[in-house]
Amino acid sequence: MRVVSCNSFAPVDQLVVEERPSPPLPDGHVRIAVTACGVNFVDALIVQGLYQLKPTLPFVPGGEVAGTVTEVAADVTSHAVGDRVFVTTGLSGGFASEVVMPAFRVIPTPSTITDAQAATFVQSYCTAWFALHLRAKAQAGEWLLVLGAGGGVGLAAVDVGRAMGLRVIAAASSEAKRELAMAHGAEAVIDTSNEDLKVRAKELSGGGVHHVYDPVGGAMAEAGLRSLRDDGQLLVIGFAAGEIPKLPANQILLRNRRVTGVDWGGWTFSHAAENAAMLAAVIAAVAKGELHPVAPRTYPLTDVAEALTDQLERRVVGKSVLLP
Ligand SMILES: NC(=O)c1ccc[n+]([C@@H]2O[C@H](COP(=O)([O-])OP(=O)(O)OC[C@H]3O[C@@H](n4cnc5c(N)ncnc54)[C@H](OP(=O)(O)O)[C@@H]3O)[C@@H](O)[C@H]2O)c1
Repeated sequence: MRVVSCNSFAPVDQLVVEERPSPPLPDGHVRIAVTACGVNFVDALIVQGLYQLKPTLPFVPGGEVAGTVTEVAADVTSHAVGDRVFVTTGLSGGFASEVVMPAFRVIPTPSTITDAQAATFVQSYCTAWFALHLRAKAQAGEWLLVLGAGGGVGLAAVDVGRAMGLRVIAAASSEAKRELAMAHGAEAVIDTSNEDLKVRAKELSGGGVHHVYDPVGGAMAEAGLRSLRDDGQLLVIGFAAGEIPKLPANQILLRNRRVTGVDWGGWTFSHAAENAAMLAAVIAAVAKGELHPVAPRTYPLTDVAEALTDQLERRVVGKSVLLP
């Protein structure tokens, strides 16, 4: 099998693509020939040692794959050779041509989506669903401003928000990202390269939005906070801009605003049953065509450094995937 190996926490061009023997198949497990490895912003942070959790070195990065079952342990009845499946491998293990996973974690791929889509929607859509349904408790008709709306978790929030009946304003830096957000259900866009976020968000929403979904951080977070109406809330998702914002508390006090943390990854460890129910709801909505994971940009596995560099440098529109 072919894997990407992270041998030290270092810039992404230090990753090594190498051949390894296939691992054995323990009881209760299935072997999957991987056809698509989803790429997430967090993968680029993890390999550089910049994420809050650090796998033991050396490790294979990547956390989401899709493919075809090639072998099942004798005690497994839930899957059969030839099944199309996808699975979340965790913090590591996904950038590989083959994975061996516990059968209970392996999920049939809906016939309505490609393997590339199956390998790229779980992290982004679960984050968006957790943020908007469980943390924000957003209600149909409310205004949602999505920052980084052409990126992975941002675009998923546009789609989940539209499906909830929210009125979505998508903020993004490029025409391609804004067009993609409109295609996923945004009713208005803000050009963050040229427009004033707060002024435009207030104009578009008639005085301020109910929710701001912020995976970007940096200076954008304060502009988002100032875009909120009375009792509005800023959802803190991530810091793709690289800077953890320090928000002025007077802007939270004014208009009775709220700032809400969103840590989907941490929550999954303490809420396994609730997370399984949420994942089932997300998959059902995808299978029924109520949610629309984007067709990702593709790279060969050997171009992993290029894929992660494009992610870090804002060149990915939507999602991307490695093909082993
Ligand atoms: N809280 C959670 O549970 C959770 C779960 C998953 C991910 N996250 C976090 O969410 C963040 C976004 O992840 P993602 O997968 O959506 O990433 P992504 O696909 O790369 O999108 C991030 C967006 O951030 C914007 N951005 C602004 N400044 C940037 C900069 N200096 N570098 C890179 N991007 C910049 C870009 O949009 P523009 O070009 O339009 O500005 C980009 O499209 C990450 O910090 C990730 O760790 C959090």
